Amino acid sequence: SAATDYQAEDAKISQGTVATNHTGYSGTGFVDYTNVKGSSVEFTVAAAAAGPASLTLRYANGTGTDRPMDLSVNGTVVASAVSFPATADWNTWASKSVGVTLKAGSNTIRATATTANGGPNLDRISLGTPSDTQAPTR
Ligand code: GCU
Repeated sequence: SAATDYQAEDAKISQGTVATNHTGYSGTGFVDYTNVKGSSVEFTVAAAAAGPASLTLRYANGTGTDRPMDLSVNGTVVASAVSFPATADWNTWASKSVGVTLKAGSNTIRATATTANGGPNLDRISLGTPSDTQAPTR
C-alpha cells in the first residue's frame, strides 16, 4: 500500500533548523540538525490500527562520517544508533528503513542524534506497511 509521508520541516525540532540550501528535498525544506549530541526531530503520526509498520527516513549526509541516530516510538528507543552513512554530497538523498510497532491512533516518532556531529540532514519520514520496507540506498 502507499506509504504516508511526514515532512521533517513540519515536525517538532529540538536543536535544528529548517533549511533549503541544498537540492532534491521534498516539501518546503529539510531539517539541518544542530551539530550536537541530542539534537532531535519528533513526528506525530497516525496509525489506523495497532501493529507493525515500516519507517523510512530520507536523509543526506555530505560528510565522510556516519551520523547515527536513536529512533524512538512513543518515548521508547526502539532502534539504537541507527547508521546514516555518507551520501555522495548534501544534494544526494538516501533512505533508511527500520521496522517499528505502532499503537492505534496517534504515535510519536523521534530521531535523535547520538554523536556530537548531530544528525544527517533529514527530509522526511514515510510510514508504510511492512511490505513497504525499502532496501537501503546510498
Ligand atoms: C554543512 C551543510 C549543512 C549540514 C552541515 C552539517 O553546513 O551545508 O546542510 O547540515 O554541514 O555538517 O550538519
